[in-house]
Amino acid sequence: MIPLFIVFVLFMSTVSSAATLRPGFYKETCPDAESIVRNVMRKNMIKEPRSVSSVMRFQFHDCFVNGCDGSLLLDDTPTQKGEKQGLSNVNSLRSFEVVDEVKAELEKACPGIVSCADIIIMAARDAVALTGGPYWEVKLGRKDSLSASIEKADAIMPSPRANASFLIDLFAKFNLSVKDLVVLSGSHSIGQARCFSIVFRLYNQSGSGKPDPAMDPKFREKLNKLCPLGGDGNVTGDLDSTPTIFDNVYFKDLVARRGFLNSDQTLYTFPQTRGYVTLFSQDQDAFFKAFIESMIKLGDLQSDEPGEIRKNCRVVNSRPVNLRLEA
Ligand code: HEM
Repeated sequence: MIPLFIVFVLFMSTVSSAATLRPGFYKETCPDAESIVRNVMRKNMIKEPRSVSSVMRFQFHDCFVNGCDGSLLLDDTPTQKGEKQGLSNVNSLRSFEVVDEVKAELEKACPGIVSCADIIIMAARDAVALTGGPYWEVKLGRKDSLSASIEKADAIMPSPRANASFLIDLFAKFNLSVKDLVVLSGSHSIGQARCFSIVFRLYNQSGSGKPDPAMDPKFREKLNKLCPLGGDGNVTGDLDSTPTIFDNVYFKDLVARRGFLNSDQTLYTFPQTRGYVTLFSQDQDAFFKAFIESMIKLGDLQSDEPGEIRKNCRVVNSRPVNLRLEA
């Protein structure tokens, strides 16, 4: 159990100081940056449709832990366990090689210019646009962190068991509203999750020994077949009924009590969030408009720590011993 004051300090180190970020940041220094990212994303989507949703998820997992600083992308070193090993990330986050491919292309076109943190932001936007969702201008100019923190990742990133009231409080710590929470959960309009993330709700919701009563019984039967008790936790199921299309079907599914994750379905069960779910299930344009705003807010989370432009997103640049303490 982490003492409360430490959790407070963890959150306080992520501040929204996005003043230096702006659209078109690489216009002069790397004019093709955004099209390079989009082309690699498109190529990977054709090869493996799920890959773009897996990359899109990085924006959440990077930005909540010390701001959007690419810390998520760092591999373990002998002296530092990276965030990839965190409870919500291990055996779950995937498609890091897509970011490697983007970075390699960018380093060919304009070496040492585009940060890995910005690649995540551009790639998340592209994942949405390439799957039929809205397109927006992203603010760029982030630096890559010099370290990662598995402790922070474990203290902050929510479990699929989380309920709306817990999630409302968590998002509030990042100045994200109840509406932001519901809208950003709409990211689950694309992609998949593991049986591991839902078996408790199928067989033992909140220790009751029974399934989650908020689930449509027909849907539960389907999930019971996909994820039998004691079966392979790594089998995956779709997060909504149109998992390769970014649309408002995710919200329609929640209204029909066919949400995959507990954290999703609870947004319809809880009165504070239910109104937004209903609204977005009926009005896709309202969802898309709100989604753009919330993704920009999420991308504005930054830390005040020193950074660099990594050459390889998986490792910090090597630096002479006498410069190691400098930005
Ligand atoms: C509100 C709290 C959230 C919770 C509790 C949550 C939890 C999860 C879980 C448990 C999975 C599946 C992991 C697995 O089974 O391996 C998942 C997948 C995913 N999440 Fe979230 N998530 C949340 C918010 C977000 C946000 C804000 C975004 C994006 C901005 C996002 C994007 C995604 C995507 C795209 C996937 C599918 C990835 C793939 O197919 O590989 N999630 N999330």
